[in-house]
Amino acid sequence: MPRIAVIPGDGIGPEVTRQAVRVLRLLSEERGLPLELVEWDLGAERYLRTGTAITEAEFAELERDYHAILLGALGDPRVPDNAHTRAILLGLRFRLDLYINLRPARLLHPRLSPLKDPGEHGIDIVVVRENTEGLYTGIGGQFKRGTPDELALEQDVNTRKGIERIVRAAFEYARATGRRRVTLADKANAMPHAGELWRRTFAEVAAEYPDIEREALYIDALALDLVRRPGRYQVIVTSNLFGDILSDLAAALVGGLGLAPSANLHPGRHALFEPVHGSAPDIAGTGRANPLAAILSAALLLDHLGYAREAARVEAAVRATIERGETTPDLGGTLDTERVGDAVCAELRRSG
Ligand code: NAD
Ligand code: IPM
Ligand code: MN
Repeated sequence: MPRIAVIPGDGIGPEVTRQAVRVLRLLSEERGLPLELVEWDLGAERYLRTGTAITEAEFAELERDYHAILLGALGDPRVPDNAHTRAILLGLRFRLDLYINLRPARLLHPRLSPLKDPGEHGIDIVVVRENTEGLYTGIGGQFKRGTPDELALEQDVNTRKGIERIVRAAFEYARATGRRRVTLADKANAMPHAGELWRRTFAEVAAEYPDIEREALYIDALALDLVRRPGRYQVIVTSNLFGDILSDLAAALVGGLGLAPSANLHPGRHALFEPVHGSAPDIAGTGRANPLAAILSAALLLDHLGYAREAARVEAAVRATIERGETTPDLGGTLDTERVGDAVCAELRRSG
């Protein structure tokens, strides 16, 4: 039976995760889906209480004894440098070598897009973000801190292995899902060393996929064109930081962070599912948090576990609640987090 570690985390993390867990439990209990969910107390509370965010033994247990992880969000204003977020979230991405960060942005209903004209073919973009290197490794340092000459270095790490495996993952994903074009986003005009390696590797891997169109764009131009013509983009492969930014932009085009799920994957090894959004301290505790990104992340988890039919049912239930306007205020509705969870569960029961 698949064992899932649930890490609700901070802020709205526990609020939205509770609804995703309800959906999983409903499928598991009423539909006989084998699934064991084990809650883990990791987050700012524990870090502030004990001074430890996560231990080596816990990393090892998560890796050894669990099939996947479902995470809410991490981040707390009482931890201004976000040390615990880096330790837990980036720690899991690095430790479990979850090199693929899949961030789909699909327009589920035309009224959700802030664009005047989202285009006749809708929006269906997947950002395939490199998740283990780039500007996220923490390699660097400070020098002469507190003096007029102080400096800070944050190194951008780009390995052939890291680029090749994420580019290949993007083409494989395109092929497996019937998508016809992969776009590389980089800044090769200003960063020639990394840029040349990314572009050369991209071209070499793309040659193995003659059925799929490829293009390389500068990220600034792509950011503009994503707003202008979002319908032409299908799979965008990019480095860690660029992918972080582009996935928030893509989410905004289809209804915002309240709807954006993600999967952090190392095929055959481990997987972590989480909404793209953070702990949203500005709305935590108000009931305004949209749980649909967390619920859609649970659908990605189901799909990963081989429960494709159940995953599709969850997505259909989310779509139905949006169509009926049973949403939180970010999507124009009046329901609170729990009531949206109710609506999705009711829809699932009807469809079962
Ligand atoms: P955020 O995603 O938490 O919030 C950005 C804006 O979107 C806020 O106005 C928030 O109210 C809104 N929003 C986010 N999720 C929403 C939801 N489900 N429903 C309705 N509105 C929602 O980003 P931030 O404010 O930049 O970061 C807050 C904290 O979260 C920081 O500590 C940051 O580091 C952390 N963070 C964590 C993750 C993660 O755990 N994966 C991701 C992003 C940010
Ligand atoms: C995300 C978040 C994280 C990231 C932060 C919290 C470190 O923004 O998952 O998108 O930058 O990857
Ligand atoms: Mn982000």
